[in-house]
Amino acid sequence: MTAHADGDAPLVLGIETSCDETGVGLVRGTRLLADAVASSVDQHERFGGVVPEVASRAHLEAIVPTLERACSTAGVRLSEVDAVAVTAGPGLAGALLVGDAAAKALALALARPLYGVNHLAAHVAVDQLEHGPLPEPAVALLVSGGHSSLLLVPDVTSDVRPLGQTLDDAAGEAFDKVARVLGLPFPGGPAIDRAAVDGDEAAIAFPRGLSGPDDVRPDSEHRYDFSFSGLKTAVARWVEQRERSGEPVPLADVAAAFQEAVVDVLTAKAVRAAVENGAGDLVIGGGVAANSRLRVVAEQRCAEAGLRLRVPRPGLCTDNGAMVAALGAELVRRGRPPSDLAHPADSSMPVTQVLA
Ligand code: KG4
Ligand code: ZN
Repeated sequence: MTAHADGDAPLVLGIETSCDETGVGLVRGTRLLADAVASSVDQHERFGGVVPEVASRAHLEAIVPTLERACSTAGVRLSEVDAVAVTAGPGLAGALLVGDAAAKALALALARPLYGVNHLAAHVAVDQLEHGPLPEPAVALLVSGGHSSLLLVPDVTSDVRPLGQTLDDAAGEAFDKVARVLGLPFPGGPAIDRAAVDGDEAAIAFPRGLSGPDDVRPDSEHRYDFSFSGLKTAVARWVEQRERSGEPVPLADVAAAFQEAVVDVLTAKAVRAAVENGAGDLVIGGGVAANSRLRVVAEQRCAEAGLRLRVPRPGLCTDNGAMVAALGAELVRRGRPPSDLAHPADSSMPVTQVLA
């Protein structure tokens, strides 16, 4: 889309409150005007994970200031907004309600259409802000603290098909739990990423979940699925054993070898899914997409397989309002009918449902 076309495109406001980030984004076409995020991550640190009630209260406090910040960054007034989009699910029920209620109030007060969108489709759509229109179909790997999914995306506004997902822990959750075992702070992903820089990824052979010959056979039902709880347990046992025998724990090596096991499985399955489903492009999103090793290995394996890799910058990979606005803008552009103002926030909204 050209800059001129974007300049004329409707102004879409996006609100995200599904987990611990209060995000408000403003998008025109595929042009990002503002992306304001307030995170409550510090309030969850001492619990080692996101506490739903704490997250909901933080959204309630942050939603209006974040909205004001987004408007002031973009230099627009709320009255100029042409459509409102909000994450309707999946996510933490109480957290979703805050954003959904705010979006409904705005849509009603401004008399504008409201789009209640799926969080996972929004993680895919955000890539349009950086790399232009999504190829159809694309395969998307979404990896965060809450989800690990492989999706076939023929049309991000209406046709998103699950290929695989984690059977237990999400990839980011595994990073967070292993970081805890290693005495690193929450969230664990960035801490392990940093610690791994000085480590040897081949120092310890940790297990690759659902990657044995039987798991990856073309007729295996878990061909595109993930499992990280066995890996997490293997790391904990390995560390315990070292501590029991009085030997020092080589933190950097454990971090690097764990990270390699996650990255190896994620990239192998994602590349295979793209090739086998006739997609020329692999999109990676979610907080774990910020991982430096994941980016390097994904780049290598995509190049080997003749695929284009599309990974938004880290700030657009973690939860934010711009991704919701990006999907809203695409829904508007394609003339999709908006959601009913009475739509419920749905904590277990199926990935196949793009719009509430
Ligand atoms: O998408 P996100 O901000 O929130 C949701 O969970 O939806 O993702 C947060 C997750 C956390 O588990 C965090 O540890 C992980 O993303 N993460 C990383 C990195 N940065 C964030 N994991 C690995 N490497 C990183 N550099
Ligand atoms: Zn997310």
